[in-house]
Amino acid sequence: MAIRKIVTEGDEILTKKCREVTEINDRVLELIDDMKETMYKAEGVGLAAPQVGILKRVVVIDIGEGCLELINPEIIGEKGEQRESEGCLSVPGVYGVTVRPYQVLVVAQDRTGAEIHITAEGLLAKALCHEIDHLNGILFRSHVVEYHEPEEE
Ligand code: NI
Repeated sequence: MAIRKIVTEGDEILTKKCREVTEINDRVLELIDDMKETMYKAEGVGLAAPQVGILKRVVVIDIGEGCLELINPEIIGEKGEQRESEGCLSVPGVYGVTVRPYQVLVVAQDRTGAEIHITAEGLLAKALCHEIDHLNGILFRSHVVEYHEPEEE
């Protein structure tokens, strides 16, 4: 495993739509492992492949309940609304309140290629929306209704 460099806002790659993963080979598995290591090192709750310069539909998310590794994730249902603070490892130092669905239903493949369904709400729903947006070249700024200073931990 290796730490990869996180691409930041201004780089064109973050505005591009990612390609579907058609074969889960060693390169894809290595990408997932590297993304996890990179996310934990940066203390993020999620990371999408374009953030490490790879235009593939792969995301990792860990909100403190174990790591989700998602290949070709897609939101197939959403309900409600939440307004919560959000940030992004590719947009360092910028935080804003976004409007997102409160609950989402996501279909994806895991690292074995098996189809998985995830029903998520709150923070996990927000993280799923944020990371899947990255796969479509969309940054969280698109959903910000109000920017704010970083909160003290
Ligand atoms: Ni992000």
